[in-house]
Amino acid sequence: MAEIAQITLDGPAASGKSSAAKGLAKELNAYFVNTGDMYRALTSVVIAKGIDPETQADAVEAILPEQDIRYVSGEGLDLLLHINGELAEASQVRSPEVAAKVSLVAKIPAVRKWLVKRQREAAELGLIVMEGRDIGTVVFPEAKFKFYVSASPMVRAQRRLAQEGEVSEGATVEKVAAEIAKRDEMDMNRAVSPLKPAEDAVMVDTSDLSLEAVIAMMAERVKKGLAEG
Ligand code: CDP
Ligand code: CDP
Repeated sequence: MAEIAQITLDGPAASGKSSAAKGLAKELNAYFVNTGDMYRALTSVVIAKGIDPETQADAVEAILPEQDIRYVSGEGLDLLLHINGELAEASQVRSPEVAAKVSLVAKIPAVRKWLVKRQREAAELGLIVMEGRDIGTVVFPEAKFKFYVSASPMVRAQRRLAQEGEVSEGATVEKVAAEIAKRDEMDMNRAVSPLKPAEDAVMVDTSDLSLEAVIAMMAERVKKGLAEG
C-alpha cells in the first residue's frame, strides 16, 4: 500500500487548531478530523449517565465497550461524528458543561487507548488533517507534517468568548481565560499523552495572524513537501 501522509495540528485550547485544520484540509482536498470532539462526545455520554469522571474513572472505563463514537463518511470529503449511531450535535459536544469535564475524561488511560485506535482507523481513508493534543506525538508520530498551534492566553480567551454556544451565559473574558488555563494545565500535566509539541513540529504562534494567513502558511509548507516527495 502506498504511504499516506498525515498532517497533524496540536496545541492548547482555543488556539485556532480546528479552524486552521478545517481550512487546510479544504485547501489540500484532504479529510479533516477533530479529535477533541471525540473526547467531548464521550464526555457527554459520561455526564448523561451521571458518572463523575473525577472520582469514577473505573465507571467511565466500564461503559467503553458499549459505546460507539466514530467519524463516518458524509458528502464528498466530509466526515460526520456519530455517537452511538446518531449524528453528534454541536450543542451536545461543544457545551460549557462538557468543556468543564472533558479533561478529566481525557486523562483516563483506557479512554485514550480506546479513542486513539479509532483515530488511526480514520486515517486509512486517505490524506488526512487531524487536530488535537497528542496527534503528532502519539497518534501519528511518523506524520510527515506537524504543526503546534499556540496563541497568547488573552487572545485565546477572546476568541473562545466570541464563539457562540461555547461559553456560559454572562461569561467574561477573565472567566473564560481561567477555564481554558485550568484545562491546559490538566492536559499538559497528565501522565499519559500530555499536551506538548512534537520535537519535529513547526511552531505557529497565531496571536497576531489572521486565520487565512495561518492556513496559507501551512498549505504552502505541505504542498511544497508533497511535491518534493
Ligand atoms: O476546542 P478546544 O481547544 O477547546 O478543545 P478540544 O480540541 O475540543 O479538546 C477538548 C479536550 O479534549 C482537551 O482539553 C483535552 O482534554 C482533550 N483532548 C485530548 O486529550 N487529546 C486530543 N487529541 C484531543 C482533545
Ligand atoms: O480548535 P481550537 O479550540 O484550537 O480553536 P477553534 O475552535 O478553531 O477556535 C478559534 C477561533 O478563533 C475561531 O472562531 C477562529 O475563527 C478564530 N481564529 C483562529 O482560529 N485563528 C486565527 N489566526 C485567528 C482567529
